[in-house]
Amino acid sequence: MSPNGRFVVFEGPEGAGKSTQVKRLAAWLQAADLKVLTTREPGGSALADRVRDILLDPTLTIDAEAEFLLYSAARAQHVKDTIQPALATHDAVLCDRFAASSTAYQGYGRGLNLDWVASVNAHTTQGLEPHLTILLDLPPETGLARVASRGRVDRLEQADIAFHRRVREAFVNLARDNQGWVTIDATQSEDGVHQAIQEAYARAFGAP
Ligand code: TMP
Repeated sequence: MSPNGRFVVFEGPEGAGKSTQVKRLAAWLQAADLKVLTTREPGGSALADRVRDILLDPTLTIDAEAEFLLYSAARAQHVKDTIQPALATHDAVLCDRFAASSTAYQGYGRGLNLDWVASVNAHTTQGLEPHLTILLDLPPETGLARVASRGRVDRLEQADIAFHRRVREAFVNLARDNQGWVTIDATQSEDGVHQAIQEAYARAFGAP
């Protein structure tokens, strides 16, 4: 299959506002008559949505290796069921988190072997890499306070602050060291973040 669509991934620590910004970017592109699919990880297919429920269940204790393999199982199915087909039929696929979340959360956050994480990621993504990754960056304290004000806190959000600091630092370093990443200050207003995302999209692909 030779995908034509643009694959845009949103990454970031907890409470960065990714889901809101995915919706706003989709609306902006659709207003320009582009065909857009939005999806998210873990999730985006029937199996992956069920795995998501397990992964986020705050009553479960999940071993770090098992956790990574569950995210990976969800991703393998999501790539085949949803992302690859959509890239062949849509102008853009916007995905809330992708393999870099496993690098940041399971690799750097949980301390799993980074080579193993990279190797499994290469398989579950089938080598598919985002054309653009938008990092919505903010301090973990700010993001976790936003999440707490929404009410129910999931299993990952319950992890200690040192874990969330490692995750944030990993994302910042990934954005610095890899091509195709853009970092946006997510402490700005929602409109300010959306504006910065529009500019990043237009710089990467031209005006929609
Ligand atoms: P969300 O809160 O952005 O919907 O993401 C769900 C949680 O799953 C969030 O805490 C980040 C975490 N996560 C990982 O730990 N590894 C992964 O590979 C992915 C995709 C998400």
